[in-house]
Amino acid sequence: MPKLSVTRRVHFNAAHRLHADGLSEQANREQFGPCNNPNYHGHNYELEVSVTGEPDPTIGYVADLSEIKKIVTSEVLDRFDHKNLNIDVPEFRNLNPTVENIALVIWQILEDKLPGTLSKVVLWETPRNHAVLEI
Ligand code: NI
Repeated sequence: MPKLSVTRRVHFNAAHRLHADGLSEQANREQFGPCNNPNYHGHNYELEVSVTGEPDPTIGYVADLSEIKKIVTSEVLDRFDHKNLNIDVPEFRNLNPTVENIALVIWQILEDKLPGTLSKVVLWETPRNHAVLEI
């Protein structure tokens, strides 16, 4: 049987600054370039959340995407959208908010909260850069 999943795509805007505490100021500037700007900068993030499973025999859904939308909204968007990730989101107080780490935090937040098995998180930071987590 092929694996079956359903996906909800959502959007949020957020500001961040990439900075590794273990590196010097100069090394940070060299590593992260404009993303190390001390005054922060923003991205238009696109997030895709997938749940896998068997379709319910009566309804035909693997998972109710409107329910997934509600959970992603309350758990992720309400906390991240129009926020400064470094300052406003406690998970990034001591964690560099790279697209990789933001995707990992989103996975950890959603893992036990969705109806069904979380199988994939895709986070686009720009139309050209994205991170993928999947089982
Ligand atoms: Ni950036």
